[in-house]
Amino acid sequence: MITTRLIFLIPVAVLLSVPAAYAEPDQSAPASSAAVKEEDGKYFDADGNPTYKIGPKDSVDWYTFSGYRRFNGACEVCHGFDGSGSSFAPDLTQSLKSLTYDQFQKIVVGGKKDVNTAQTLVMPAFGDNKNVICYLDDIYVYLRARADGAQGPGRPASNAPKPKTAADYENECMGP
Ligand code: HEC
Repeated sequence: MITTRLIFLIPVAVLLSVPAAYAEPDQSAPASSAAVKEEDGKYFDADGNPTYKIGPKDSVDWYTFSGYRRFNGACEVCHGFDGSGSSFAPDLTQSLKSLTYDQFQKIVVGGKKDVNTAQTLVMPAFGDNKNVICYLDDIYVYLRARADGAQGPGRPASNAPKPKTAADYENECMGP
């Protein structure tokens, strides 16, 4: 799956050198999360990693909204409904301040186990769960917005419509 996504990202890296379709810099975002490029409603930071875009009246891009829904379907049972953790799973609004995009993907795909604590902490592997894997970037940008304080707890006020690219990718990833 990661390999597939890397292949998908190659054209993105090539396009990054083309100065044409630059999004306006988002002044409210910390430098590292600032959206510098947009591709059919999907935003990327200066490193080419997916990021969020919060517009006027707290309206969020499609992927951030989708990530909010997917997170609350698959992750909130352990990490809390807004990502802020529970007694047995870490506060992801803190974790995402330092985890890289690659580290995030590897943990969600492959899981993580900490046996060095008094209680055994197990993060399940979601590599076979299409309801998570097909929306990995969505969940990532939502949590990134949460970690930066750009998106509060709860449902985003409003959201951009679903881009065709998102619908196409979803169909391809989820399969028949
Ligand atoms: C069954 C409970 C459970 C579910 C469901 C769950 N997690 Fe976790 N997650 C954990 C535990 C426990 C840890 C800590 C593991 C450790 O310390 O080794 C963790 C760790 C993580 C980490 C690493 C945090 C850090 O600071 O290193 C990330 C990222 C993460 N989870 C994301 C997710 C996402 C995204 C989902 C939903 C797709 C999810 N988790 C669903 C229990 C869960």
